[in-house]
This record gives sequence, C-alpha cells and structure tokens, in this order.
Amino acid sequence: MDAILVLDFGGQYAHLIARRVRSFKVYSEIVPPDLTEEELKAYQERLTVKGLILSGGPASVYDEAAPRCGSYIFSLGLPLLGICYGHQLMAHVLGGEVTKLDKAEYGVAEAYIDKPVGPLRGLGPVEKVWMSHRDSVVKLPQGFEVLAHTENCAVAAMGDESRKIYGLQWHPEVVHTARGDEMLRNFVFDVCGCRPEWTVEDFIEKAVEEIRSAVGSSKAVLALSGGVDSSTTAALAARALGDRFTAVFVDHGFMREGEPEFIVDTFTKLGVKLIAVDARDRFFKALRGVVDPEEKRRIIGELFIKVFEEEAKKLGAEYLIQGTIYPDRIESGFRRHSEKIKTHHNVAGLPSKMEFKGIVEPLRDLYKDEVREVAKQLGLPEEIVYRQPFPGPGLAVRVIGEVTPMKVEVVRKADRIVREEVERAGLNRELWQYFAVLTDTNSTGVRGDARAYGLTVAIRAVESREAMTASFAKLPYDLLERISTRITNEIPEVTRVVYDVTNKPPATIEWE
Ligand code: XMP
Repeated sequence: MDAILVLDFGGQYAHLIARRVRSFKVYSEIVPPDLTEEELKAYQERLTVKGLILSGGPASVYDEAAPRCGSYIFSLGLPLLGICYGHQLMAHVLGGEVTKLDKAEYGVAEAYIDKPVGPLRGLGPVEKVWMSHRDSVVKLPQGFEVLAHTENCAVAAMGDESRKIYGLQWHPEVVHTARGDEMLRNFVFDVCGCRPEWTVEDFIEKAVEEIRSAVGSSKAVLALSGGVDSSTTAALAARALGDRFTAVFVDHGFMREGEPEFIVDTFTKLGVKLIAVDARDRFFKALRGVVDPEEKRRIIGELFIKVFEEEAKKLGAEYLIQGTIYPDRIESGFRRHSEKIKTHHNVAGLPSKMEFKGIVEPLRDLYKDEVREVAKQLGLPEEIVYRQPFPGPGLAVRVIGEVTPMKVEVVRKADRIVREEVERAGLNRELWQYFAVLTDTNSTGVRGDARAYGLTVAIRAVESREAMTASFAKLPYDLLERISTRITNEIPEVTRVVYDVTNKPPATIEWE
C-alpha cells in the first residue's frame, strides 16, 4: 500500500497532516523526527513509502535542542515536503539561511504564487494561507527557487523540482489555508504518485487476517465496554475467530439506563460470543465510604481487572484483544486520558498481571473518525457508532462524594432525561457530550406546601473536537427548562437543577 510518512517536529498540527492525507485514501503515519534509516527500512517492508512530509514545530533551527532529521532523507530520491519548521529545517540543512524576522506572521496572509508547480499546481496568483512563524528562510539552498512570497516573507514557498523537494512556510493542513487540501493533494498524488488504496474494506480484510494469524488456533478475549473502539474490535475479532473469541462485558453497575441490556442484545444479534458479568454488588461494596475521586477510579480499575481476569481464566484464553487506537499510542495531549482509558476501557493494565501469550490491537493505527467508518461498515448500530465519550468508570465519576446505589440511580435517571431531551431537540450530533452530574450539595426546595431538602443535579453539555479543550454549549433556555422540570418532577429526591457554564480550561469536562 502506498503511504506518506509525516516526521513530527512537535507542531500542534502534525496530526492534521496525517489525517488529511488519509482522507484522500492514502495511508499516512506520524513518525519520530529523527527516524533512522533502519526504521524507515522497516516501514518500507510493509508499506510503499512514496514521500515524506516534515511537519511544523515550535523550535528554531538554531536552538541547540531543536529536533533534527537524519540528513540521509535528502538523498533517498523520495519526494519531500517541508511545512513551517520543516521548510526552515530543509533550508538550513541544505545550505540555505534562516533568520528571525523583526515581525512575526500569525494568522491569515496573502501568498503571491510566483511559480505554480509541485504542491502549488493549479493555484491562482494570490492565495489565502495560514501563517504562524517568526523564523524565515532568507537564502535559498542550491538548486531551489522561490515558488511564493508574502509581504513579510520573501521565501514563503520554495522548491527544487528536479529533486522533488518542496517547502511551504504556511500550513496547508489548517482549514484557514483556503486551498490547503489541493496543495496536499498535489504533493501526494502528482509529486509522489500515490494511489488511493487506504479504504475501510481493505482495512477490515487486513485486520481480520492479522487477528487470525496472531491468534492461530488459540482462544482470545476482549473487555467490551460498549464504546465504539472496543465494540469495533469485538466485531472484527468475532469475524476473524468465530467461537474462539469471547467478549467479556463487566457490568460494574455504573452504566447508563438500558445500556447493559442493549450491549448484550446488540452483540448477540451480531453473532459475537459474549459473557456479561453482573458485578454490581462487588463494585458498590468496594466503594463504600470512599469519597476521593482518584481513589474511586483506582478501586474501580483494580476490581475491573480482577473480574475480567477471573473470566479470562475460566475461558482459557491465551490472547488478549484490545481496542487501543492511534491517539492512545502517540505522544500528545491525549496522553493523560489515554492512560486512564487504558486502565478502564482498553484494560492495558492487564498484560502485566495476566500471562497472555500475546496482545492484538487491530485498531492501533486508526483515528476515531476512521474507527467509526469501520464500525458502520461492520454493521454496528448508530448508538454505538456515534456514542458520546463515556468514562470507563461510568456514572461513578458523575456522583460527587460517596457512590451509593441510590445516588447512581438518581444520576442515571437524570442522564436519561438529559439525553432524551437533547436528542428530541436534534442537538445530539452537534454536541460532544451532554450529561447529568449529581453534586454533593443539598439545598432547600418547596414541594406542594412543604419545604423539602433535596439533592442538586448539574447539567453539563459541551462542544469540543478532541476533548482537550471544550466550551459549554449555549443550549436554548426552553430546552434547559424542559430538562429541569422533568428532572424535578420525575426524580423526587432532586430539588434543584443547575447548568454548568464553564469552559475547559479552566474546568474539565467531567466533574469528578
Ligand atoms: P476531562 O474530564 O478530563 O475528560 O475533561 C476528557 C474526556 O475524557 C473522558 N474520560 C474518559 N474516557 N475513560 C474514557 O474512556 C475514562 O476513564 C475517562 N475519564 C474521562 C471524558 O468523558 C471526556 O470526554
């Protein structure tokens, strides 16, 4: 399969580059900036690497600790595209010159296209591009010519057509570069000659093949949470292994209303062998008297592993199949959560405690939106394909203070009401998450003629792209009123409903 590798120099947009390239159906992966020749060879054994993209990054080429690439990449004969820092690094390494400008360029700029070739083929004389730099290329390396300039930047794009090496000072991967997609397409298809071979169908076929060859004639298990990653992995594993694969669903008692039944029903219909373990009592018992949120998470995580382990042992499974996805693996802001996700969702804590012969992670190279595509193709229901992110410890993180069956029941009912009303208002696809939290504040209310001292429920609804930042959703007041009226009417323990109007940062999405 044809592929483009992206050398990651630490820029916040590096991942966007790989995602854009994949959206053209060409496989792309992020690799360390100092990829060695041996590592590249290893890639070339499984992929036809047709070109390299050097990403942007925060460093200056003159910083001592600035990330560098091996100079061998310039003599491989492979097409190269440098973006921002990548562009500057190319100039620096190949004998050009980079200096700090008096004035930094941030935001949209007008680029005057001097020669529309390579990535710039087909572009107009002036293009809107997204700039974010202070350093600039001021002298071209030998063999290069200027392809574009801006008011402040004489070498906004450069190229050596004979060697197929190009550099752009701007970011084509960012939506503010109006024709950025065309620039990347030009590079990927015209300059590198890639064929669009990265399709969902191909992926499924290869993943099934991989699971089969890894597991051989042994048995395998997976911890199924009902989220899109573990569900998709389960569907793939069942396709590959049939009855030799078992999905274990541990019901810790903190799932949303109807969810355990839905999971069992869905996977049974899909023909996946499933064991549902009702461990609710064990979890509630373990959490008795515990109020510290991290302590709650630890207890839930450990008990989850214990319960899962017992089942895996009974089944005699030798392989563990996990739903780890690409963002879980890479060095990025996802890290904090991927660690948590690993404990609770992907149960990556298991292998060190259990002796599996091997672990198989068929989704390890996919982004979330690609996992959703695979899920759809495998026939998983919409509720799973588009499920909101849900913490592994479930509603337990949405009960502040001690977790008791009564409190979980209250937050579960409130959560159902929030979901029903948001979905009825048709806002569910626009929101990243929408849910209820049971606070530990009691407050006075009036019921009939009597005073009532009851619980306070908080509603949280946020818009976000990747959960690293989020803004509170400006839900219509009438929707909030319907939610609040229903909660206080249908859940007698609750006397007050509040709406959380905090963004992330400074708040997080969950309350914990
Ligand atoms: P915070 O609260 O830190 O959460 O803003 C960011 C995102 O992560 C989700 N989350 C989890 N997801 N397992 C998961 O799979 C977990 O243990 C977990 N904890 C938080 C949270 O819902 C939000 O989308």
